[in-house]
Amino acid sequence: MKIVGEGNFRGQIGVWLRPLVFLGHNAITLIGAVITTSAGLTLLAFWAFEILKGGPIHPYAGIVFFLILPGIFFFGLALIPLGVYIRRRKLRSMGTLPAIYPRIDLHNPILRRGFVLVGIATVLNVIILGIASYQGVEQMDSVQFCGQTCHTVMGPVFAAYQDSPHSRVACVECHIGPGASWFVRSKLSGVRQVFAVTFKTYSRPIPTPVKELRPARETCEQCHWPQKFEGDKLVVRTKYQPDEANTPTKTVLVMKIGGHTAQGNVGIHGRHLDTVERISYTSTDDRRQVIPRVTYLDDDGKTIEFNSAELISNSAQLAAGEHRKMDCVDCHNTPTHAFQLPERAVDQAITDRHISPQLPYIKKKAVELLRADYPDRGTATQQIARGITEFYRTTYPDTYRDHRALIESAAQTVQKIYLRNVFPEMKVTWGTYINNIGHEDFLGCFRCHDGNHTSADGRTITQDCNACHSVLAMEETNPEVLTQLGLQ
Ligand code: HEC
Ligand code: HEC
Ligand code: HEC
Ligand code: HEC
Ligand code: HEC
Repeated sequence: MKIVGEGNFRGQIGVWLRPLVFLGHNAITLIGAVITTSAGLTLLAFWAFEILKGGPIHPYAGIVFFLILPGIFFFGLALIPLGVYIRRRKLRSMGTLPAIYPRIDLHNPILRRGFVLVGIATVLNVIILGIASYQGVEQMDSVQFCGQTCHTVMGPVFAAYQDSPHSRVACVECHIGPGASWFVRSKLSGVRQVFAVTFKTYSRPIPTPVKELRPARETCEQCHWPQKFEGDKLVVRTKYQPDEANTPTKTVLVMKIGGHTAQGNVGIHGRHLDTVERISYTSTDDRRQVIPRVTYLDDDGKTIEFNSAELISNSAQLAAGEHRKMDCVDCHNTPTHAFQLPERAVDQAITDRHISPQLPYIKKKAVELLRADYPDRGTATQQIARGITEFYRTTYPDTYRDHRALIESAAQTVQKIYLRNVFPEMKVTWGTYINNIGHEDFLGCFRCHDGNHTSADGRTITQDCNACHSVLAMEETNPEVLTQLGLQ
């Protein structure tokens, strides 16, 4: 039998296409083509809509359009060759696979139009695939996706994030950072997390520390150049007493932030961070709070080992502990997911005058209501508002009559503090997340600087009150130093 057009280019294509056309004639391939085409058209329509509408879309719509629809699209696309393959195997096993496929008669207008359609569809598919995968990745990297899609799970961290100095920094800048390898690692663990959320197998609260966090040197230092730290930072902290007048007291500290100076590495940042790894430690609990051993590379290049006799119980426990090089996150473990404690949050709100110190006992009352147990967030907000208004109505009727607006705004602020920090459904409450900066509320710096970590040659990790800060005033009502500095 002579094959029409054999030898010329069109003929070659004919030889190629014949089996495809013949074998493609099966249910699976056709269903695949229909699925792909309809998913593709929906995507195209949606992109047109998105361009016209502008602005970010709802996170759930994002999941459907950037992840699920492209998934369906790929699925349909995969069915097409699968159908061809299955039909071929089946025909071969039945012995009916033609040695020469029936010829394609390009004079047949229906077939010709069919080819044109397939050609156009292929070009469109390539474009759609490109855009869809790009947008899928972009969507997964967005703050909305990370923070809001699984809102029960991420509710606590997202609330804290929005109210933090990093609220304009995307989640991925700290959690993934630049480069392909962490990107892939994070996407793999992301897939696991999607399963955890789907089947509700995630732990409540989400455990910290994050074990697979990219080293801070590669993320934080994109924006905070450690060589740049220098000098001191004045910290003025106002607290209000739980008395009738909400008496304010002030603590004034000069934090010796330090860094790299002509004298070498000084102060808080200079001592722990360097161009080389300076400090590493072993912790024996899963929250990095119990630190029996610390190794330190001193200025002479000598490695010193500090051990806490109190914390080391045996060497097996030490060997099983976590060994870690110290970086930013060991002190700044909550640079953006900073949960508050009731006393501090109320102090801050009074300082900002969202809560008026004119209201008698407001500090005491607010903290009391925040610390109470509530079954859920809805009940909590109701009872907080009722608690505050009832208190003034019954105990201070004059205040209640004259300052209704102040009472209402105080009640709203206290509700907000509660909602920002307590999430019963995630088992997140006051103090669930530890903050390692400082030593008042949690162990923090005193995990190592407790005066008990000593070396064989008799050195101790310092607990000198003036090593980290000068305490210029401690809970004074009228610190002289602030007057001298012209700050009050
Ligand atoms: C400024 C950097 C930074 C940004 C921006 C950031 N994170 Fe984090 N995040 C961290 C660090 C550091 C930790 C690790 C705390 C630890 O290991 O103790 C963390 C921990 C977490 C945890 C574990 C629970 C916890 O509170 O420690 C979750 C969940 C999380 N981040 C989600 C997010 C989401 C969602 C966003 C965006 C809305 C985001 N993060 C933005 C730095 C950041
Ligand atoms: C994409 C840039 C970026 C990255 C990455 C980043 N930060 Fe920041 N950081 C900022 C900006 C912007 C501010 C706010 C400066 C301001 O408000 O003056 C800030 C502020 C801070 C502050 C001061 C907070 C305060 O209360 O004043 C600390 C501490 C800090 N960052 C630590 C970190 C740590 C730790 C990491 C890594 C886990 C990190 N940052 C990653 C941009 C970044
Ligand atoms: C040993 C603990 C420790 C380590 C490690 C550490 N910091 Fe700090 N950092 C502090 C303390 C303490 C302060 C002062 C906090 C305060 O009182 O506001 C501070 C302040 C800061 C500030 C605010 C500076 C300002 O002028 O307000 C930034 C930004 C910061 N750190 C970033 C980093 C980055 C980035 C790293 C890692 C390269 C890092 N820190 C490592 C303890 C540490
Ligand atoms: C993992 C253990 C560890 C933690 C946690 C830690 N440090 Fe240190 N720090 C050390 C070691 C080790 C040294 C060096 C030994 C020394 O000088 O006492 C040091 C030295 C210092 C120095 C220099 C002291 C001097 O006299 O030169 C300062 C300041 C300091 N740390 C501040 C802090 C602050 C502030 C925090 C908490 C935010 C903190 N450190 C948390 C281990 C730690
Ligand atoms: C290893 C470093 C270090 C040592 C040693 C140290 N502090 Fe602090 N201290 C800090 C840091 C960091 C903060 C937190 C600053 C902040 O919250 O911005 C802090 C905060 C404070 C505050 C303010 C607490 C508050 O309510 O905000 C007081 C008061 C204080 N320290 C007193 C002391 C005294 C007294 C000593 C001696 C026993 C001491 N510190 C030793 C690092 C240290």
